[in-house]
Amino acid sequence: MHKLSDTSDFNPELQRVFSTSEAAKFEKTGDSKIVNYNGRSYEYYDAKLHSSTVATIERIIHAIFLFIMGDLINAWKEITNRMVVCVEVKGTAIKDIASDNWATIGSPTSEPIDIRAQISELITRDALSTEIMLRQQEILRRKEEFRPKIEQEKLDKQKSPSYAQLQELSRNGTLQPAGVGSGGVYFLQDEQGKSKFVIKPHDEAAFCLHNPRKQACPLLNDSLRTREDIPAYESAQNEALGSSIAELINARNIVPETVLTIYTSDQFHLISDSAGRKVKSEPNEREKLCSAQKFIEGAETADDYCKRKESEKNKAVYDPSKIVAVYDPGDIVYDPHDFEMGNIYIWVSGNEDATRDNFMVSEEPGREGAPVHLQIIDSSLICGDRGPIGNELAASPQMKSVISLQGRDSIKNISTKALAAKMRFFGKSEASIAAAVGRVKMMQAAIKNDPNITLGEMNKLVKNNYAGLPS
Ligand SMILES: Nc1ncnc2c1ncn2[C@@H]1O[C@H](COP(=O)(O)OP(=O)(O)OP(=O)(O)O)[C@@H](O)[C@H]1O
Ligand SMILES: [Mg+2]
Repeated sequence: MHKLSDTSDFNPELQRVFSTSEAAKFEKTGDSKIVNYNGRSYEYYDAKLHSSTVATIERIIHAIFLFIMGDLINAWKEITNRMVVCVEVKGTAIKDIASDNWATIGSPTSEPIDIRAQISELITRDALSTEIMLRQQEILRRKEEFRPKIEQEKLDKQKSPSYAQLQELSRNGTLQPAGVGSGGVYFLQDEQGKSKFVIKPHDEAAFCLHNPRKQACPLLNDSLRTREDIPAYESAQNEALGSSIAELINARNIVPETVLTIYTSDQFHLISDSAGRKVKSEPNEREKLCSAQKFIEGAETADDYCKRKESEKNKAVYDPSKIVAVYDPGDIVYDPHDFEMGNIYIWVSGNEDATRDNFMVSEEPGREGAPVHLQIIDSSLICGDRGPIGNELAASPQMKSVISLQGRDSIKNISTKALAAKMRFFGKSEASIAAAVGRVKMMQAAIKNDPNITLGEMNKLVKNNYAGLPS
């Protein structure tokens, strides 16, 4: 058996890798061990992180620094760049975790589209700048469409404190790019550097013109969407709508309060920043229509939580053959009320991106090991024109619970009229409204027919019945 290191006091990081694209970042350097757990298979192996020349130089400099400081273990760690990696074995694990309909979970439903080929074609026709200009104008138009609506929202008693805080922070705070996510995500911080809001501009989402993370697109057609039934340029509106839906189901806390706002920052990205003089800027392009979501303090994503738990359990493991414990998303024990309301939110909103990196979990201070609290972030892919959902809470054995009286009441009391009105306010299509109303009516009929329906049964029902347009 290949040993990770001959230095017995060297404790490598255990990296839990959840997808094959993440796995590609690591180079397998030794033997592996397959561990079967909860009906899923995992492969543990010695690995080295692929790193660029710059990153390697940075690491070596850091190692020299650590060596001089006498921190030999970490210096050695930096030099070897090795770790134990765990990957769910393809074909079984991913399918099981996503439960009964894995194709719609975590992967776009459409084939990857070669946008570059389409752009080259525009360049040969000299049509690229026209296409970009059209998008720029549409973006500005949409901002103006929502400006009066935002003024109206500011009068809402519930939301006005958030708007006041945003205004204050726009004067005294700073906006920092989060550096994560597939779209433009920014943390709005106060003078002490504490994050208060998560700001996401509507034109920086994946496949939108000003995306800063190499997923920008100058085109707008139906084939270019992260999900085929969710139009581009609606992500910020969806984030704010998500928060309103949480309120409608009487579970305000399940989604952190989110408002739609117009915010200006030099930090915001424009395609002209990367495309240079080839793209002409329009006036006020850095004043953007954005969602502003309250920052959740002291929480981590369910994904990170699993990785941390597993790493903690395997602290003293130097060799993949000696892995002692596995921790996967099905092992998370959620607060039962949060878990139930999280599900109801996902069903009503038709959330297609309810994945473990969009679940924020937190342990109650001093109650280590107690069920964790759940909040759902990233509602950018809710309320599509049809009704498919992706729900990774479905990996949990807690899905076997019967929907509680309180849960049934929340479903029963949802006003489809209020839901439709909210969706219309945020500019959603009539097809998406019909799909959402259809989902709610189906859920209301289901609890009436079977008061003992479980969360898992309801999840299947919502998932397998696409309301709205035919699938
Ligand atoms: N309200 C919040 N409170 C605390 N952290 C947050 C909040 N919203 C987002 N984050 C952090 O920012 C990260 C990216 O946010 P989000 O998932 O909304 O962006 P995204 O671009 O849509 O990402 P992706 O497409 O990768 O899912 C999250 O994984 C989380 O770590
Ligand atoms: Mg996300």
